[in-house]
Amino acid sequence: MGNLLSRLKSINIQDSFASKPQVSGTLTRVAGLTMEAKGLKVAVGDRCRIDTKDGPMDAEVVGFNNDLIYLMPTDELKSVTPNASVHPISSRADFPYGSHLLGRVIDGLGNPLDGLGPITSKTATCYVPSRINPMSRRPVKQPLDVGIRAINSLLTVGQGQRMGLFAGSGVGKSVLLGMMTRGTTADIVVVGLVGERGREVKEFIEEILGEEGRARSIVVAAPADTSPLMRLKACETTLSLAEYFRDQGYNVLLLVDSLTRYAMAQREIALAIGEPPATKGYPPSVFAKLPALVERAGNGGPDQGSITAFFTVLVEGDDLQDPIADSARAILDGHIVLSRELADSGHYPAIDVEKSVSRVMPAVVSDEHMTMARTIRQCMAQYTQSKELISIGAYVRGSDPKIDQAIMIHPHIDAFTQQKMKEIVPFAKSLEGLKDLSMILIRDAQDRVARMQGGQMQGQPQQGAPKAASISFNRQSQ
Ligand SMILES: Nc1ncnc2c1ncn2[C@@H]1O[C@H](COP(=O)(O)OP(=O)(O)O)[C@@H](O)[C@H]1O
Ligand SMILES: [Mg+2]
Repeated sequence: MGNLLSRLKSINIQDSFASKPQVSGTLTRVAGLTMEAKGLKVAVGDRCRIDTKDGPMDAEVVGFNNDLIYLMPTDELKSVTPNASVHPISSRADFPYGSHLLGRVIDGLGNPLDGLGPITSKTATCYVPSRINPMSRRPVKQPLDVGIRAINSLLTVGQGQRMGLFAGSGVGKSVLLGMMTRGTTADIVVVGLVGERGREVKEFIEEILGEEGRARSIVVAAPADTSPLMRLKACETTLSLAEYFRDQGYNVLLLVDSLTRYAMAQREIALAIGEPPATKGYPPSVFAKLPALVERAGNGGPDQGSITAFFTVLVEGDDLQDPIADSARAILDGHIVLSRELADSGHYPAIDVEKSVSRVMPAVVSDEHMTMARTIRQCMAQYTQSKELISIGAYVRGSDPKIDQAIMIHPHIDAFTQQKMKEIVPFAKSLEGLKDLSMILIRDAQDRVARMQGGQMQGQPQQGAPKAASISFNRQSQ
């Protein structure tokens, strides 16, 4: 009896399950990118291999209906025949996580795309990202230098913050992301290029990122011509990589271009397997996936690093009705808006400071910094409000000291917020620039007071003195 018990114990139950024969199913229908198979016992997310006329083709289970399994190809769908065999394969693909990936360009499954040979590493692990308890996350307290003057000074980003980069096409998103990759003080940059045109991916890596940017970054790319599943995977892999390095204690900068294309890929899949469309053609699962993805970024627990994230969101014109932009705005900790008007006038980076906001800025900068930034923003808002009157000559100088100051400081702010493509402006230097701007305002105010006092001494008020300013703006412009 004892012998039988010890023999039973010696059987490795895991092994006996692992070696159990795999049941294969058959393909019953293909419509668009969706394949239907029968005879399989698989779970959503499992991978399968389908026998085609041109060899095996990999697919993933994306849903089911009773015993009908819905599959989508991870690559191109071709040469499939009716009743083709479908074999389940290991669902947990080993992904080569590790620092050996730095400088590499990979697809969503970890295959190299840069022609620099196979990715091999002794440290390759099968890492499963853990969910962080919101109560154990460190709060956002430290600023992160992104190397962009306008952002560092007026829209300071905190370590662990999730920002949106809202812009139309061709207004400088990729260039800005590239500048941040080169200019940030973060330890590692993980870039996800999802749904871009293939040419743009190459351009981003070779021209915008350059050698310097590539050395400390990992690029995960899924151009527009890849299957929606691969686009989705690329985005998720980008997040997992960032989480992997965050868990190792690194401060990671995560750049995802774009969140809109991620949502579009999910829409393609969801609609194909029969989910009903809800808002502007987007099925409900899209709005559940977006926060789930964004929540994965942020600060880790006490022993972990941080993921500071920038997600680009495509907005054409001033389409505030776009459901993805709407949803993103609500789940992110701030947004930077790029303006086509600024880009058209050659003002780069085309950041519309007034429409942009960093919600964590007060928590990560000094009171002095915050006050200076607020003052400059007020001057910008004042200038914008009065711009039309100024441009048609309806504003008379001296009518309102605030508008006078806004006009005086405008060219200085204009120069301050521009930055050349190859130029990096560290945080300390950005702050110095902001101080210089504030000094111009203080000196101007002092001059005004001095002029006013001089005028009073001579017994007559001078232009720009508060007396003149108190004259109603409307009466002056009539
Ligand atoms: N900082 C900059 N300085 C000069 N030109 C810029 C700058 N940023 C963007 N541009 C110009 O804008 C073009 C479009 O930028 P890109 O980043 O490719 O746009 P998007 O990614 O939004 O489609 C670039 O080819 C470049 O000519
Ligand atoms: Mg681009």
